[in-house]
Amino acid sequence: MHDFQYKEGTLHCEAVPLEKIAREVGTPFYCYSQHTLVRHYKVYEEAFKDVKSLVCFAVKSNSNIGVLHELVKAGAGCDIVSGGELFRALKAGCDPRKIVYAGVGKTEEEIEFALKSGVLMFNAESSQELFAIDVVAGRMGKKAGVALRVNPDVDPQTHPYISTGLKKNKFGISIDAAVEEYQLASKMKNLEIIGVHQHIGSQITQVRPFVDAVERLLAFVDKLRAVDIHIKYIDIGGGLGITYKDEAPPLPSELAKEIVPMLKKHDCTIIFEPGRNIVGNAGVLVTRVVYTKMNEGKTFYIVDAGMNDLVRPTLYQAHQAIQPIDQAAMGRTKLEVDVVGPICESGDFLAKDRVVPEFKKGELMAVMSAGAYGFTMASNYNSRRRVAEVLVMGDKYHTVRQRETWDDLIRGEKVAS
Ligand code: LLP
Repeated sequence: MHDFQYKEGTLHCEAVPLEKIAREVGTPFYCYSQHTLVRHYKVYEEAFKDVKSLVCFAVKSNSNIGVLHELVKAGAGCDIVSGGELFRALKAGCDPRKIVYAGVGKTEEEIEFALKSGVLMFNAESSQELFAIDVVAGRMGKKAGVALRVNPDVDPQTHPYISTGLKKNKFGISIDAAVEEYQLASKMKNLEIIGVHQHIGSQITQVRPFVDAVERLLAFVDKLRAVDIHIKYIDIGGGLGITYKDEAPPLPSELAKEIVPMLKKHDCTIIFEPGRNIVGNAGVLVTRVVYTKMNEGKTFYIVDAGMNDLVRPTLYQAHQAIQPIDQAAMGRTKLEVDVVGPICESGDFLAKDRVVPEFKKGELMAVMSAGAYGFTMASNYNSRRRVAEVLVMGDKYHTVRQRETWDDLIRGEKVAS
């Protein structure tokens, strides 16, 4: 459930009509509901209340500091994958002791920044990275909290681009080789081995892959214990899917029912790294129809948002629902159309061969479920300014990111002299 509903004939976010925001902020814009965000976060807290747990929101899914701040205020930590995400998490007020840092290619500069900030732990993904963290920590006279990301070789049955827990993926260390890695790491003077990490993929719509992966991970934790390595944190990653169309992913409570009994046997803090599940259905992209046209019997709605603003439909063949802002339009004849952007690429579409109610030039539409991996994957391709982001709280809205200006487009550039 989310807070984008029709009231008095027009689509609202909480108590604010999206049409009003469009009038005042212009289009396109991303709009997020604070109420949905925080409720989704609390669902995790509630589902896992029987184990010590920490929910670290996956910043890559939505990194706006206005959004992060709301989650941080509610108690969330952050899962980060770059120095830039660390910078944002800290700006949003996140307690560094609630930050976990993953990613296969952390640079020395980033490791130093993270150590200086005092993050809870590095989720290390290779032996060379462990070595690098040890060297940098030694140089700084610090001890780095470390978990190793193990790859359980479980098929999450999702899109190949967002599947990460298979042997053939670049992520983590094979679970078979990992005990040895832990033994090596435990001898490194500047590391404190405190956790184990896994993340098997994203938009997972079944419980089974999670249960399998957690079973394997816990068996691995037992193996570590047998060689006298005792950890405090079990980080099981993110990945729980959402409903874009007709998927029926498990609720966090359904996942909890399966895995909490297993997790309870270990006296560890369980870390979760949900992104999409918290913010995906808490956001929409609002865009305006610039033109409509027919080519060879096919109808195109040309809108003012493009693949640079929302790349998921073209990159992953992702389905994101299209809804008119004006509820009355729902009653119009339905037709099959392509909703396309203004970019010079055939891949520039938000929906392809989609049956929608008829739209007219100038009307507004909402691209639903756009809160996760929407703005964060946006680019300036075709020298398009990145759009505004708005956070609604009750009957008020806040522009948490201004639309870029022409000058923003060339910031840092100059002609050679
Ligand atoms: N933790 C780690 C280590 C991750 O790599 C990811 C996502 C997450 C947590 C959060 O996963 P989530 O709960 O959001 O599924 N751009 C793609 C999704 C890429 C996910 C990458 N990693 C999309 O738009 O579908």
